[in-house]
Amino acid sequence: MRPVTYQKTREGEISVGGVPLRDLAQEFGTPLYVMDYQTLMENIARYRQVLEGWGTAYYAGKAFCCRAMVELVDRQGLGLDVVSGGELFTALTAGLDPGRVLFHGNVKTAAEIRAGLEVGVGHFVVDSLDELHQLDEAARAMGRTAAVLLRLTPGIEAHTHEFVRTGQFDSKFGFAIADGIADQAVAVALRMGNIELKGFHAHIGSQILDTEPLVANAEALLTFSGQVLQRFGFWPEVLDLGGGIGVRYGESDDPPDVTDLMTRVRMALGELTPRGMRPPHIIVEPGRSIVAEAGLTLYTVEAVKTVPGGREYIAVDGGMGDNIRPALYQAQYAAELDQKAGDTPERQVTVAGRYCETGDILIPSIRLPDPARGDLLAMWGTGAYNYAMASSYNRVPRPAVVLVNDGEASLWVDRERWDDLTRRDRPLRPA
Ligand SMILES: Cc1ncc(COP(=O)(O)O)c(C=O)c1O
Repeated sequence: MRPVTYQKTREGEISVGGVPLRDLAQEFGTPLYVMDYQTLMENIARYRQVLEGWGTAYYAGKAFCCRAMVELVDRQGLGLDVVSGGELFTALTAGLDPGRVLFHGNVKTAAEIRAGLEVGVGHFVVDSLDELHQLDEAARAMGRTAAVLLRLTPGIEAHTHEFVRTGQFDSKFGFAIADGIADQAVAVALRMGNIELKGFHAHIGSQILDTEPLVANAEALLTFSGQVLQRFGFWPEVLDLGGGIGVRYGESDDPPDVTDLMTRVRMALGELTPRGMRPPHIIVEPGRSIVAEAGLTLYTVEAVKTVPGGREYIAVDGGMGDNIRPALYQAQYAAELDQKAGDTPERQVTVAGRYCETGDILIPSIRLPDPARGDLLAMWGTGAYNYAMASSYNRVPRPAVVLVNDGEASLWVDRERWDDLTRRDRPLRPA
């Protein structure tokens, strides 16, 4: 939930990465996204250690993508999963070898496909027959061969919010195994001149808190591979299990242990690889489980308001523009006020955002110690799908991102300014 470097003094002063939150607010302003280096490194190391020699983690850039994050991913030896030309461009700007990029997405425009082929991305993850044909034709026109993983929907229901569930049969993503479309895609891909089929992919959802569906996903891909071997004589070099491993947003969340989970996947790999075949190289695409708990958002309380007979609201200087998840998925977050001594009496309040939507509520109900205007509020676990999903709704500029480590803070992304918001605007014509 909180970054591993979280500390709180008896007087209630909170620091992360050795930097007091108050100093961060003073230097960089609020709202502010803060990422803790040590938490990022520990989360990355967990995947690297357990996968050593048989798998590779490709960080899912959609969770949090900026140049410095890709540079960190590069230095730590991970690959990168991108879902757009913009994420690919960021990866190239950061100097990542395109061979370590997986190009995802249920829609890739013609320009994005060409860009991916041009720079030589390591793998395309293909989502439809139309895309397969488009990729083959583009590769032929450019004299290239595209290495491909087919995205499958294995029919596994992950117990998570329906908006982030993707592995069920009726999904906009992938080829369903059950209705034979996946078989058909294999047959088509194997016949194509400029497609090199490398293996299969399935991502069943996000914020999954049970180990079982994630292991079942690996088993389903291996079982399907066994059937494909019999029907087509094709055995995959690569199986990509997607991401989706959940994190702790609140005290009661109990996410899977990455090491245990991957150890079980490795056992399944041993058991379900047919005799005489080489076990496929396993790819996983963790996003949230690398960045979520490394991140927090720092807000200033701007107003405290009690509605007679209703709730007490504390309104902060951010909201759905920097964190759409509570409005989008009813996502729950924990938060804490800085500089409140342990004996300060608490009140039950609602944390409201500043945006002109009734639904802009960051936390519907939380106990906080005597909240007052000017307080600093730290919302925990905001490293994933916050900055990445941010908008400038209401023409409120997007916050800066800073990294904290060993008592120092460095800017990863500048704060958007009012003139950034009007930079691409054109005057009314005719004048
Ligand atoms: C194909 C794919 N891979 C990986 C991820 C990352 O998931 P998470 O951030 O839950 O690990 C997603 C998230 O939606 C995804 O769609």
